[in-house]
Amino acid sequence: MSANLDKQNGAMAWIDERFPLTKLLEEHITKYYAPKNFNIWYYFGALSMLVLVIQIVTGIFLTMSYKPDGAYAFISVEYIMRDVNFGWLIRYMHSTGASMFFVVVYLHMFRGLMYGSYKKPRELLWVFGCLIYVVLMAEAFMGYLLPWGQMSYWGAQVIISLFGAIPFGIGDAVTIWLKGDYIVSDATLNRFFALHVIAVPLVLLFLVVAHIMALHEVGSNNPDGIDIKANKNEAGVPKDGIPFHPYYTVKDFMGAIVFLIVFFAIVFFAPEMGGYFLEHANFIPADPLKTPEHIAPVWYFTPFYAILRAIPDKLGGVIAMGAAILVLFVLPWIDRSPVRSIRYRSIWYKILLFTFVAAFIMLGYLGIKPATPLYTLMSQIGTFIYFGFFVGLYFVSKFETTKPLPQRVTA
Ligand code: HEM
Repeated sequence: MSANLDKQNGAMAWIDERFPLTKLLEEHITKYYAPKNFNIWYYFGALSMLVLVIQIVTGIFLTMSYKPDGAYAFISVEYIMRDVNFGWLIRYMHSTGASMFFVVVYLHMFRGLMYGSYKKPRELLWVFGCLIYVVLMAEAFMGYLLPWGQMSYWGAQVIISLFGAIPFGIGDAVTIWLKGDYIVSDATLNRFFALHVIAVPLVLLFLVVAHIMALHEVGSNNPDGIDIKANKNEAGVPKDGIPFHPYYTVKDFMGAIVFLIVFFAIVFFAPEMGGYFLEHANFIPADPLKTPEHIAPVWYFTPFYAILRAIPDKLGGVIAMGAAILVLFVLPWIDRSPVRSIRYRSIWYKILLFTFVAAFIMLGYLGIKPATPLYTLMSQIGTFIYFGFFVGLYFVSKFETTKPLPQRVTA
């Protein structure tokens, strides 16, 4: 036994002399002290990582049988679904993974809003998160073109044409440059494939590493939003901190199992999710000569699509949609409250956050629906509330009466 241990230590020592393995493990896992009061909302960062891994692994296997060619793309997906061993499983895991990625990321972002995790000193961590979000949207958008179904084709057509709203002839040039042709074509499919399978995932991985490094530099926030580093013991360890391993590795493992049960229940029993995860029109091959009756993006884009359509002017709509995403980046500077967590903030903040979330969900619903006059009016109200949240927060955070913060976390 002891000889074995010596051997292990010997192997570790050999590696440590050549690579800082122990140092890295201690810094990021065994001696990374996380607040002891994490709750259910703290699962979603680890779950985002899990989904990222699922997407990369299933994506690699899909690439082995998929053909990025306008003439074969659609049937190669059918081939994967019917003939490739377990191809259906890999494809459904990837398509379900795309939607579940946004489910966990939206919950992860909402946690950040609730507990003020974007506030000093975590501004850069938040900005990296926002960049991840934008890159993730690009990744999902480009992936959606690959099955080369009707919705793939016309969805891409609509979104790329938005760039055409840029004035002075720049817009037209940009849309042709993006498509690599005058219409969405084989050239578009090829470049989207290249970007989707390698360029964008590399950027995503880099950003996730930067996100975690920024997190570990400043330390995790917690549901009380107080700084655990302010209370340390003689050894310099935060009194309210517990080592990430084994405490949170075990907790995250449990979260992963629950998540995977839900994930595979969808994969096996409802992979189309009633047309929300895989749209019905996408089971028809792309036809450049036939526009589908109703074009709607996948659910995770629909809040922004509703904002786009809420503004009657095309350029105005594009600007509003872009602003709706960009405003997230400056949230740490909009919120001027001295307190982070919702637990110690005023009722005004709670009302603002609640109406913001309600408006976001309503916009998501409206983005799927056809643009009737009533739905357009509702989208305009939703857009007003969406931006109203940020304007309101700027003032409420300055003048609200907050509750006194506890000295130690309230586990
Ligand atoms: C691929 C996507 C993402 C991955 C893999 C990821 C991963 C993580 C992990 C593992 C943590 C620590 C565990 C936790 O607090 O849950 C974390 C924390 C955090 N993430 Fe992300 N994240 C992603 C996207 C985002 C996005 C889109 C945002 C915001 C726009 C964001 C903002 C934050 C913040 C503010 C924290 C610190 C939370 C706190 O300490 O209270 N993340 N992230």
